[in-house]
Amino acid sequence: MASEVSEHLRERRLLLGISAGIAAYKAAQLARLLMRAGAEVQVVMTPAAREFIGEMTLQAITRRPVRCAIFDAAHEAAMGHIELARWADLILVAPASADFLAKLQAGMADTLLHTLCLASEAPLAVAPAMNQAMWRHPATRHNVLGLQGRGVHILGPAEGDQACGDSGPGRMLEPEQLLQAAEALLHKGRMAGIRAVVTAGPTREPLDPVRFLGNRSSGRMGYAIADALLREGAEVTLVSGPVSLEAPPGARLIRVQTALEMHQACLRAINDADLFIACAAVADYRPSERASQKIKKDADTLTLDLVRNPDILADVAALPQRPFCVGFAAETNDLERHAEAKRRAKGVDLIAANRVGDGEGFEVDENALLLVWDGGSSSLPRQPKQRLAEQLVSFISERMDAQLTTEDS
Ligand code: C5P
Repeated sequence: MASEVSEHLRERRLLLGISAGIAAYKAAQLARLLMRAGAEVQVVMTPAAREFIGEMTLQAITRRPVRCAIFDAAHEAAMGHIELARWADLILVAPASADFLAKLQAGMADTLLHTLCLASEAPLAVAPAMNQAMWRHPATRHNVLGLQGRGVHILGPAEGDQACGDSGPGRMLEPEQLLQAAEALLHKGRMAGIRAVVTAGPTREPLDPVRFLGNRSSGRMGYAIADALLREGAEVTLVSGPVSLEAPPGARLIRVQTALEMHQACLRAINDADLFIACAAVADYRPSERASQKIKKDADTLTLDLVRNPDILADVAALPQRPFCVGFAAETNDLERHAEAKRRAKGVDLIAANRVGDGEGFEVDENALLLVWDGGSSSLPRQPKQRLAEQLVSFISERMDAQLTTEDS
């Protein structure tokens, strides 16, 4: 548990919104973590949230009276709602119920919390928590997409067992994860203002309803890069093939299965992106046809007809208004020569090359990288993928700055 003061949260003003949901009990723990990290925390509850958690608990933890009523003369006299909206450095609503999100999307202001969300110019983050069917409902999908489009940070939800007995997506992220997300949102990192799209994991190319062609990519490197970017203040869309990892809090996760789906998702997401990092192990080929029924083992041999998949990285790099493009190269030999050839062939700004085979590269926790750009190369030594990702992000930030300076001069 985080018990130390955080340099990004110390003396920052957190407006912690709580809407009605079972997960409201976790908001007390979150308030405690935020206070310990040095933040000033003002809790604002919706009236219905009071059915789930007591004001006294939150007041004792935050050492501030909890605000709830929209028309409250005594509180308004102390700090009016517009003043409170201006006071906040960050608004974090946890839990955010389906109803809360629907009203937020509609721009309604019938509770104090909704009014503050509407009146504040501070970044707004919400941690959805609801039954899985409610989360999957088209109305909620529509609302969440709309909010995301307006720059609201959607934190989670996680998947798992739910209080109602169901299992699926809709669990609120844990308080520690929300603390980390709040830190990242308030951290004016070196990637602040940068919109990044990252691909990660393998793709699966279906042969029939039960079989696919795949590879052993675990997705760890791509997820670590997404996490490192978020920690440096970037806005991150993570386009991921099937992996068994949880997306870092704050990332916009788009799940895909096939290379074609990943291609489509990336080209849609890339719109106004500044940075594209292709970390996925995309299948080069897919079966030319997908059998509608399970293929039977009638013959002694079976020949598969495969067709080339589009090269996502090369296609993004060829866009007229392209982002800074980073590709990976997994090679068994001649690392630098192959990496430079790949950089030129795909027209990208930077290639991060690593050795694979003999227990290196895939499915391991550590990695080393050789970075190759137009006019130079350097090495990042073998280390855990998380640290390596941090160093890579810091290097990318330097290269992006260098490119901007060259363009300006
Ligand atoms: O050509 P190769 O597969 O070795 O290139 C690897 C790099 O290109 C990686 O960054 C990978 O994510 C990206 N790639 C891609 N689409 C493909 C194949 C590779 O984005 N179809």
